[in-house]
Amino acid sequence: MLDKIAQRNGLFDPAVCGGFVLLHGGAGVQDPRGPAHAAASKVIEGIALRGASALAGGASGLNVVKQCLFELESEPCFNAGLGSALQSDGQARLTAAVMSGPGQIFSGVMGLEGAIHPSTLALMLQGKTTRVVCPPGTAELARRAGLKSESPVTPERLARWEQAKKENHPHDFDTVGCVVVTANGELFAGTSTGGRGFEAPGRVSDAATVAGTYASGFAAISATGIGEEIVDDGLALRIESRVRDGMALESATAKCFSEARERKRSYGWIAASSTGAWNFSWTTEAETGVIPCRLLRS
Ligand code: GLY
Repeated sequence: MLDKIAQRNGLFDPAVCGGFVLLHGGAGVQDPRGPAHAAASKVIEGIALRGASALAGGASGLNVVKQCLFELESEPCFNAGLGSALQSDGQARLTAAVMSGPGQIFSGVMGLEGAIHPSTLALMLQGKTTRVVCPPGTAELARRAGLKSESPVTPERLARWEQAKKENHPHDFDTVGCVVVTANGELFAGTSTGGRGFEAPGRVSDAATVAGTYASGFAAISATGIGEEIVDDGLALRIESRVRDGMALESATAKCFSEARERKRSYGWIAASSTGAWNFSWTTEAETGVIPCRLLRS
């Protein structure tokens, strides 16, 4: 299904279906669109199914987030990892975060250069006392993780950067994200991005803040869109707080959606609650498809 500006709600009882995985590849107007949209949807569907089958096979929620983000970062059609948007100086600086709901533990990296898997580093920081790292610490983390040196720059993204330079106008914004609900209702979230594209060098995305990525015992959320607006609205934590204080996920996200529309925001999110309620919302003009799918226990 393809819609502009919309909300979608559903419920997959985690105890019945054995848990489930939600993914997004951004809700930007430009990225990916047209024929690329169908191809990207197919890619996402495959990654979601592999994530769901890892979950069914006993992988932990956090490892499923890791697997899905790693695969999304490896796909050049999304603005994350390989194929990330470039900042105004022509460099890609990558940001990612993961959050584990059971322990309510957030970790992330900002501004990673010369490698394509910031989510792997974010995950490494889960058990540490220092849990959000920017350069120069990202290079040392990448070395310890054995992350290979790899340029995130693709010819297509470079062409967009050149066009943005000519027009002095950004042509990218987006993110990839993952929410996992396990069979016993535990929640996990992760987000990874190249940022807005053509932004000031060193600008940091919302993805590695609690506005862009959040998970607790109540709800898990991964946001996408214009990071400054996501941060100004404290989006992910705002949805979670509403659920924590007793609102159903559908009502909490409907309220955030109407606030976002009132403020003419350009962002979106995926969200789930511990009971298996899920929600996809986007206020952008993107033609965004939602493909609810789950693995049923045999
Ligand atoms: N949400 C991606 C960014 O603004 O950096």
